[in-house]
Formats: sequence, structure tokens, C-alpha cells
Amino acid sequence: MGEENLAGTFQHHYGGAHSICIQAPGRVNLIGEHTDYNDGFVFPAAIDRYVTVLASPRTDQVVRAYSVDFAQATEFSLSQIEPSKEAPWSNFVRGVLVQFQKRGLELPGANLLISGDVPIGAGLSSSAAIEVAVAETFRVLGDLEIDRAQIALLSQAAEHEFIGVKCGIMDQFISVLAQRGTALFLDCRDLSYSAVPVSEDLSIVVCNSAVERRLDSSEYNRRRSECEEAVKVLNQKYGGIHALRDASIEQLDAVKPQLSDVPYRRARHVISENNRVLAAVEALQAGKTQEFGELLYLSHRSLRDDYEVSCKELDVLVELARLAPGVVGARMTGAGFGGCTVNIVESKDVQGFCDSVQPAYEKETGIQCPIYVCRPSAGAGNCVKC
Ligand code: GLA
Repeated sequence: MGEENLAGTFQHHYGGAHSICIQAPGRVNLIGEHTDYNDGFVFPAAIDRYVTVLASPRTDQVVRAYSVDFAQATEFSLSQIEPSKEAPWSNFVRGVLVQFQKRGLELPGANLLISGDVPIGAGLSSSAAIEVAVAETFRVLGDLEIDRAQIALLSQAAEHEFIGVKCGIMDQFISVLAQRGTALFLDCRDLSYSAVPVSEDLSIVVCNSAVERRLDSSEYNRRRSECEEAVKVLNQKYGGIHALRDASIEQLDAVKPQLSDVPYRRARHVISENNRVLAAVEALQAGKTQEFGELLYLSHRSLRDDYEVSCKELDVLVELARLAPGVVGARMTGAGFGGCTVNIVESKDVQGFCDSVQPAYEKETGIQCPIYVCRPSAGAGNCVKC
């Protein structure tokens, strides 16, 4: 729905005009998967697809929210925020507001209209986008003193406590702090970051396997505890190992006899992936495009074999990408278990790439594959179209 129609819909629902329009982007991760909750490195970019929130303040303590995508309204009081079974999408709103309250920040009541074009359940962080868009909306409405990194952290806390996924910080952080035309090299331990320009000669092409991301929180959370198991054993031997970030492959190999196969392989993925992120950032900055692409393929293989979060369709997409014109590298992106691949493609060959991958994927799997050609965009703020 266009911004004008959104404004009309808001007017229709609430009998008055909206006062602010805020958007927060989804993301695609170039490399550094399942490293964020291991205090490691990630390299995501925000995409030019957003969750948009139109809002106006209320004088009472009520929040009314309408989701355009789910065509559903919900309402609750700020004095008692409970999870909703009837309108599960609103739990992202509720969860974020609870976090503001936990930090002692006073919220205004509000009328909200929420809409988005980040595909839901495709591993492009539609959840983080709604959390961040709502957080930013209330920061502005309530004129709240809270910095941008805190907005990301409270959105992550909402996901942990209200949604039940013990996610890392990557998705929320990039949705808040992304800078146009760049990918963000982020150290998830101390949240230091630098923006690395992505040349216009390269395009970020996202292929949607159209297999709904089967990330039930239990699989994701299980990976997390398998990593913790490996940390425990490593720390017993070496000390000072608080997260897999602190361990080397040599150290891991030395404790292999004390570890069962699964946590060993999970840790091997994380430790090697951290090394790949560092190498990939360097390669991209140095214009060593082929080297960068190779690291993407290696990342995919490690996620498939060691971390076991890929699926047949994602593997097919990566193999088909290899054969397509202009491709530099490809891998699954996000949590996995379905969702999307990220492909770095020479900009002049994007059409040829799509024409090659799309029909071949349909032939092999019987599934149509939506493709999104993305430009790295800026983080949350005022809607650019309003
Ligand atoms: C999901 C989580 C992130 C991150 C990725 C995997 O997107 O929300 O924190 O762990 O999976 O890299």
C-alpha cells in the first residue's frame, strides 16, 4: 500500500490524521551467520524493504494498533501489557513497550497503523523491523531519551522475553544503525562497528526459496546451548573463554576428545565463520571480489554441514547460483531452515542471473522463487516517502 493510502487508512481507523510516519528496514546478512550470540562478528546490510508505522499520540494510557497486512485491530492499556493470542503480530509491539517500561521510560498512549513489505517468515528480519519501527515511533512520540544502540538492545530483549527466541543483536542493530550504500561490520561483543561501502558494480540479489523459515524457536535456542556446551569444555581447559569468539580452531581440536560430535561441529562452524567474516570484510574493502565470493560459498557449506541449518531448497539455490552469469558468491542468509539466499552479482549481469536461476529452481523443486534486488539502505527513521 502506498504512503497516501496508508494515511487514508489511518484517518479512516482513527478519525484523525497521523502525526508521524516511521520506517525500519529488514536486513540481509552478507556473512557471519550464527556468530552474533557467540560474541562474534557479522556483516549485514539493511535492505530497501521496510516496516512502516503511522502514529499519533493519545491523551489516555491506551494503545490501539491496526495491522494492514493482517487486516486486524487490537487494543491494550499501558498499565497492563499482556501477550495476545488473538493478534500474535501485536506481541512485537507489546514486547517492545514492556521493555521501555522496564527501563523506567514513560510512554504516551498512541494510535498505530502498521504495514510492511519485508516478506514475513523469509529470514529477512521482518520481526526486528517491526520491533525497531515501534521502538523508534515511541521514542519520537514520547520524546524519550534513549540512544540508538539502546533501541536495538531493547528490541532484542523484547524478542527474548515476549517472543521466546534467544536471538543475537544483529537484526535489530542493523535495522537501527544501517547506513545507506554500506554493509555494517559489527563486533557483537562490544557493539563497535564500521560501515563498509558496497560498490555500485555489485548487486545484492536475494532469492527466496519460498520454503517458510521453519525456525521454531526450539531449534534456534538448541544451537545456542550446543555452543555453550563447547564453551564450557574449552573454558575448563584454557580458562578465559567466555564465548566461542575467544577460541581458536586449534584449541577446539585439542578438546575434541572431551566433546561430542554435535557441539564440536557447531563450534567449528562459529569459529571458522568468525575468521571468514574478518577475511571477507578485508577482501571487500580491497576490491578482491572473487575472494569475497569464495568466502560466501565456504560459509554456506559450513552452515549446511556443521551447523545444519540449511535445507534442500537453499542448497539447490546456491548450486544454481554458481552456474548463473555474473555471480560472485552465494549462501543462505539469516537463521536458516528455509528462507533466502544472498547472492553477490555483477550489477551488469543481474537480469541474466535472475533469468538463469528462477526457471532452473522451479524446474528442480516445483517452487517459484521470488527475487529481490536490494540496495543497502539506511536504518530506522522518518519515512523517506512522506
Ligand atoms: C536470526 C537471529 C540473529 C542471528 C541469525 C543467524 O536472524 O535473529 O540474531 O543469530 O538468525 O545469524
